[in-house]
Amino acid sequence: MSVLERKESQNKKNLDLTPDMYRVFISYLKSSSGILLGDSKQYLVKNRLSTLLRGSEYSSLSDLILALQKGSASSMLKAAVLDVMTTNETFWFRDKGHFEILKKRIFPEKGRSIKVWSAACSSGQEPYSISLYFDEYLREAGSAGQQNLQILATDISEKIVADARSAIYSNMSLSRGVSEEFKGQYFKQYRDDWTLNNTVKSRVRFQTFNLLDRFDSLGRFDVIFIRNVLIYFPDETKRNILERMVKALNPGGVLFLSSTESLPVEFDLLEPVREVGGRYYQLKS
Ligand SMILES: C[S@@+](CC[C@H](N)C(=O)[O-])C[C@H]1O[C@@H](n2cnc3c(N)ncnc32)[C@H](O)[C@@H]1O
Repeated sequence: MSVLERKESQNKKNLDLTPDMYRVFISYLKSSSGILLGDSKQYLVKNRLSTLLRGSEYSSLSDLILALQKGSASSMLKAAVLDVMTTNETFWFRDKGHFEILKKRIFPEKGRSIKVWSAACSSGQEPYSISLYFDEYLREAGSAGQQNLQILATDISEKIVADARSAIYSNMSLSRGVSEEFKGQYFKQYRDDWTLNNTVKSRVRFQTFNLLDRFDSLGRFDVIFIRNVLIYFPDETKRNILERMVKALNPGGVLFLSSTESLPVEFDLLEPVREVGGRYYQLKS
């Protein structure tokens, strides 16, 4: 018996996860978030759901999973399941070339008001990196006041969105991509952590949002960042999300996938553009 199981048996909660219950759970997770788990993630699911089981009204993992499946689980529990089952790995200026492309190519070509959507923004490093580069762009072009940038940053995890909104980051987080120069210029010490400059922060509006939901309420965008999230979805979901994103782009709009991702086969609504620093996808006219 593992240490975890011993603790749980003291709590009298049943942590057994049968193959059948595992299948019920992965089907629930796929339909609620798009995330497709393989057969090998049983241990991970058991581990993460056990943490939630402790604070819940259910006495076994099976009861908890069945409540999710039947729709009788509370919205708090459903949100907590998404919080624990999502992979929130991110860092500052990830695929740095994308931010250079924004600064050198995209921002100068756009009009007075630029709208960006950072879909699946995790703890905020992606949208804030965009805002930081916009600041640099304005400074270098000497064009402050002539253009403005609004970034909508969304993620399915309520917890991660709350973290992102706070814009408070540890030394460890900043060490993953923020130069000493940027740190001095844009961050202020806050207890043991660092807070982001208000102007950079104020361009970003955060919202909890599931990419499986309709995009109509979000508006239209000149630029969409959808990086390192489609990899968790089955092909048909990935294709469907991209098709709907194309409709959410303004004429001439562009979309960024991560440098390790590509469009689905025969997806011809967007045209790849290769630049020094990376690749992005332009809406076909
Ligand atoms: C690995 S992070 C990527 C963060 C950032 N885009 C980057 O490239 O660094 C993936 C994020 O996708 C979010 N996610 C997973 N499924 C989602 C869904 N159905 N709708 C919205 N966000 C989702 C997760 O919560 C997680 O924060």
